[in-house]
Amino acid sequence: MNSFASSSHLPHSTSHHQLNAALETPSSAYQQQHLQQTNTRSPKPPTLPIRAIRSNGNLNGGSSTRGSVSPVTDKATTPDGPEAAEDGKIIVGVDFGTTYSGVAAVYSGTPDEIEVIKSWPGGNGITSDKVPTEIGYTTAPGSSPDDPFAPKTIKWGFQFKPDEPRLRCIKLFLDHNQKLPHFVSPLETAAQLQKCGKTVMDAVSDYLTALYGHTMETLTRRYGESFMARTKVEFVLTVPAVWSDSAKNATLMAAERAGMGSREGLKLISEPEAAAVYTLKAIQPNHLSIGDNFIVCDAGGGTVDLIAYKVVALGPLKVEESAVGTGGLCGSAFLNYRFEDHVKTRIGEAIYKNMRENKAKTWNMGLKYFEEFVKRNFNDDEEDQEMNVPFPGLPDNEEAGLDCGFLTMNKAQVKSIVDPVVQEVIDLVEGQVDCIRERGGLVSGIILVGGFGQSNYMYKQMKAHFNTEGPPPYTSNPTHAVLSHQTQAIEVMHPMYAWTAVVRGAVIRGLEGDLVISRRARMHYGTSYATIFDETKHPLKDRYWSPLWERWMVADRMHWHWPKGAEITESKPISFHYTRNFRPGQSLVVEDDLFACVDDDAPDAYSKDLIHVCTLTTDLSVVPKSLFTRLTTTKGYEFDNLDFSLDMRVHSAGLDFSLKVDGVEYAAVQAKFH
Ligand SMILES: Nc1ncnc2c1ncn2[C@@H]1O[C@H](COP(=O)(O)OP(=O)(O)OP(=O)(O)O)[C@@H](O)[C@H]1O
Ligand SMILES: [Mg+2]
Repeated sequence: MNSFASSSHLPHSTSHHQLNAALETPSSAYQQQHLQQTNTRSPKPPTLPIRAIRSNGNLNGGSSTRGSVSPVTDKATTPDGPEAAEDGKIIVGVDFGTTYSGVAAVYSGTPDEIEVIKSWPGGNGITSDKVPTEIGYTTAPGSSPDDPFAPKTIKWGFQFKPDEPRLRCIKLFLDHNQKLPHFVSPLETAAQLQKCGKTVMDAVSDYLTALYGHTMETLTRRYGESFMARTKVEFVLTVPAVWSDSAKNATLMAAERAGMGSREGLKLISEPEAAAVYTLKAIQPNHLSIGDNFIVCDAGGGTVDLIAYKVVALGPLKVEESAVGTGGLCGSAFLNYRFEDHVKTRIGEAIYKNMRENKAKTWNMGLKYFEEFVKRNFNDDEEDQEMNVPFPGLPDNEEAGLDCGFLTMNKAQVKSIVDPVVQEVIDLVEGQVDCIRERGGLVSGIILVGGFGQSNYMYKQMKAHFNTEGPPPYTSNPTHAVLSHQTQAIEVMHPMYAWTAVVRGAVIRGLEGDLVISRRARMHYGTSYATIFDETKHPLKDRYWSPLWERWMVADRMHWHWPKGAEITESKPISFHYTRNFRPGQSLVVEDDLFACVDDDAPDAYSKDLIHVCTLTTDLSVVPKSLFTRLTTTKGYEFDNLDFSLDMRVHSAGLDFSLKVDGVEYAAVQAKFH
């Protein structure tokens, strides 16, 4: 027998009139009492065949990608190594970063040999673990550069001359919910895109297409054409943990357009989770104990992402997320913008403005020197070493420290640029430490990864902060917990491949499946519902009369199914229960909205401030008619009622949904992310 739903749902935007005509949903207590009189339920078959559901969570399943063909049928030997086994495949990890992107690959037959792509078009033979996330369009000779419809050639990564225009930080435009750093100008980006007749999605997919092409070419060179033709290639993409579900969806779409595979076959993993997978696996097992908490701090170009895990099993390694992940806009690019302010203050607004407007080469040279040399090598251990930043062509000015086209910077000046940003990162890590300790957890290590994370100065500052804790607070009655948790120094770890930890982790994840057994919600996730009006709880103005339930009802109440901080395992879905009424002839395609709230306390009722995560369109016509219940109002009006649930599964970087009626799953739910 169907049990009556404990919560039900109505679309927030539907007017009360529409509600009466469409979907009406009383609370369970009311249903039980009321429906006993009217229920003309028809008998149901005891079981139904199980229908396949769409799942993005199957790590090893999924379809092949463009460039890949059917599974290997006989053995092939590549020039230097792997023999394609029956189920052999190549896993490619792609880290599409704000400032730099990376690609790594592994053949499943030789799982320890993760290879990071290091040579790039335009790189002039110089290797780099990553390639700049920059793309530009040039118009073919003979066409007007201002004609958005003129044919374009693409330049990307290292292919630009220093002062050539290009799109930067384009990734940040995929997520409308994220605050943009001050240095990213939406107007300027929009103008550039308009000029070449492209959208953000076009630019992202063009970049990923270039990355895909270069990856396939590199792999073909590495493994040989016949091996590649026989071997399936699967892509795993990383996305920031703080990203909205619609931005993750946009990334999937762009990757699909780039040829990386069908969206069902593509896998997403959150960037800090991927970094954690790599670094935790790289730590010798005898240095890990059950109960240890590790905080992974992925400090990149734009953002700093944090995630914390507790070790729950060692062989094989399994972890659970132990604090709600956080993040902030305090990546390494902020150092460049603080440098910009520094230069402006030193040389004066007028000279600075003139240089930016008329001497792009001068500015680009100084900035490049700061980016590649000053900030990366900064270390306050050394003697007061002066740095000379080249600004060719700027006039000598003793007061400003300009001599022969060089701006002199002393250690204190560089420190004043770096320190506030490093401090922001430390504060974010401290937040995670406090959160774990408040719950009595033991924080064993902080793992620093990402481009900014590989900075020695950052490592030393972190170590100074967390590794030398002050004396415990005085207490007349010391407890073990106080001594062991509050005073313990935390080890700061700098893995070997800090800059490529994310992309290596993506590959491991694609190869080995999930080592994270549970995750925590970064926001409250919920749906709105209608229920019986209760004057002690609901404002009178919100009530409306339901002719089907013959009661005063109230809509737009919120049910937070997955509250912020709550744990969820990938295998166990969260069920949203619904009961819906259908008048004769009414469409059985229904829409429900999933909302999210970032505040710690989520509201009881719908408000415009909530994040609209996605609209779920469910086609209930796939449900056998016998599972609908014929009900009759006291006035003799007949309608059909159906109890069902939408099950939400949470993956590393994504949600998927299925319809369930009477314990049977149907592939009937389409999620449209906003
Ligand atoms: N030693 C260093 N000190 C400071 N910054 C560094 C150092 N090495 C690299 N960086 C910076 O790291 C950034 C690139 O790091 P990474 O590739 O992790 O970022 P990203 O993935 O592009 O950004 P995000 O993760 O925010 O999307 C660049 O801004 C670069 O200047
Ligand atoms: Mg990154």
